Amino acid sequence: MSKELAQEVKKRRTFAIISHPDAGKTTITEQLLLFSGAIRQAGTVKAKGKKSNKFAKSDWMEIEKQRGISVTSSVMQVDYDGYQVNIVDTPGHEDFSEDTYRTLMAVDAAVMVIDTAKGIEPQTKRLFEVVSHRGIPIFTFMNKLDRDGREPLELVEELEEVLGIDAYLMNWPMGMGSSLLGLYDLYNHRVELRRGDDDSHYLPLNDEGQVEGDYDFKSSSLYTQGLEDAQLLSEAGNPFDQNRINSGKLTPVFFGSALTGFGVQTFFDAFVDLAPAPSATLTVDEQVIDPADSRFTGFVFKIQANMNPAHRDRIAFIRICSGEFEKGLSTTLERTGKSLSMSHTTQFMADSREEVQSAVAGDIIGLYDTGNLQIGDSIYEGKQVVKFPALPQFTPELFMRVTPKNVMKQKSFHKGIEQLVQEGAVQLYKTYHTEDYIIGAVGQLQFEVFQYRLQNEYNAEVEMIPMGHKIARWIKPEDLDPKMSSSRNILAKDRFDRPVFLFENQFAENWFTSKYPDIELEKLL
Ligand code: G4P
Repeated sequence: MSKELAQEVKKRRTFAIISHPDAGKTTITEQLLLFSGAIRQAGTVKAKGKKSNKFAKSDWMEIEKQRGISVTSSVMQVDYDGYQVNIVDTPGHEDFSEDTYRTLMAVDAAVMVIDTAKGIEPQTKRLFEVVSHRGIPIFTFMNKLDRDGREPLELVEELEEVLGIDAYLMNWPMGMGSSLLGLYDLYNHRVELRRGDDDSHYLPLNDEGQVEGDYDFKSSSLYTQGLEDAQLLSEAGNPFDQNRINSGKLTPVFFGSALTGFGVQTFFDAFVDLAPAPSATLTVDEQVIDPADSRFTGFVFKIQANMNPAHRDRIAFIRICSGEFEKGLSTTLERTGKSLSMSHTTQFMADSREEVQSAVAGDIIGLYDTGNLQIGDSIYEGKQVVKFPALPQFTPELFMRVTPKNVMKQKSFHKGIEQLVQEGAVQLYKTYHTEDYIIGAVGQLQFEVFQYRLQNEYNAEVEMIPMGHKIARWIKPEDLDPKMSSSRNILAKDRFDRPVFLFENQFAENWFTSKYPDIELEKLL
């Protein structure tokens, strides 16, 4: 273990931003890029985001073209205050897919952005559940403070109640919307004024928790009230506990406005301070892989196929768990035991893709692949075999029936489905008796990708009949009585032949559980 490597690893902060669409993920990312000097002008990232949203549904070829661009924003590495910060994108809207969830397996922390006018929204909740399952730290940014939103206290209560996590208040707003005066910064023991020149932007507090000196705002009720509330809340609220933050039980909560840049720097400064550097990873046989261990190890968490239609190439995204990557490194792919040369790789910057020069544990690299790699693959250097645990499977929510359009092409249809399912593009189910194919996904885009790739890579055209939203719940084979299924809950089996009900809606599931109170239904993550 070299000292320099350990130093480099300590500087890494690898995280994802989770939020419901429109809460401000792109805007806050852009602010980080601005602070770090990676971009010079606001609007750069947003423009890209808008474009890809526009094309996402209309035309797959366009999506592909877009993907060539959007992949650069899939992972961004920037230098912030001496830290190497890796932001991994979690697409929303039409781009939402299982990849989004898998991405969360490759980060060491999550930032949760909440719109103060809306509170906890469905996608935030779902993404939170996945992150929370991993027990990694979650930092909350209550955004859009420049607009009138809901009461701060109500938002914090909702956060704790709906998500079941404790909040630690890092700062507290003094006013909101057009009357926003500033933030009472409990963590840094200062007041951050919304307006004010550079000298008076941050005002330290004295021992009584007051701003020293003569300022007009001190007579404002926003100041006195904010101060009182903040002090009261910090005494009554949860105590600071770094261990509980590290295990995702306590979330530091910040208020601010990404659009106006207010409170954002304060947020990122505290984030890099409190968020953990990459930590050890456990293998399936319980070897502890220390990130500063000099040999390279990593795993594939996402594959982006066919970004360039002219070359059937794919990019495998690899999270480095230990060691250092150098161009041309020779490694072993655990699943096959074959050697894998890491010669054609890419690293992701704010506005370009570059050949990786060097990367260390915590970083994410893209490896051009011709079909050798699968999601969840472990890669290691040296003789000792390293196998990281399989990535979890996620409960799909959208379903389609699929049949080949041309019965003569059955063979390529089956081969294509098998490979795409193995790759994690979609999940495969069959109806219990008739063995009709049903595919499941968490986002619509997965179906489009599936259909497109089947046709283009396997020359199999498919008929897809939407079944809409379903609630998938697994039942133990010994509990199963096929009579339990009905038109409102389709009985199917997954690709491991485990029986699963696809309930039409919540009502149908409730009806089932009240009819069979002793039957335990399970979901995937
Ligand atoms: P997303 O990536 O989470 O989907 O959200 P994004 O950053 O694109 O922000 C969504 C909209 O919210 C954007 O408006 C953005 O300008 C706005 N927004 C983000 N942060 C703040 C904030 O702190 N305050 C205010 N007032 N607005 C914020 P937009 O694209 O122009 O849409 P619209 O405003 O025209 O609807």
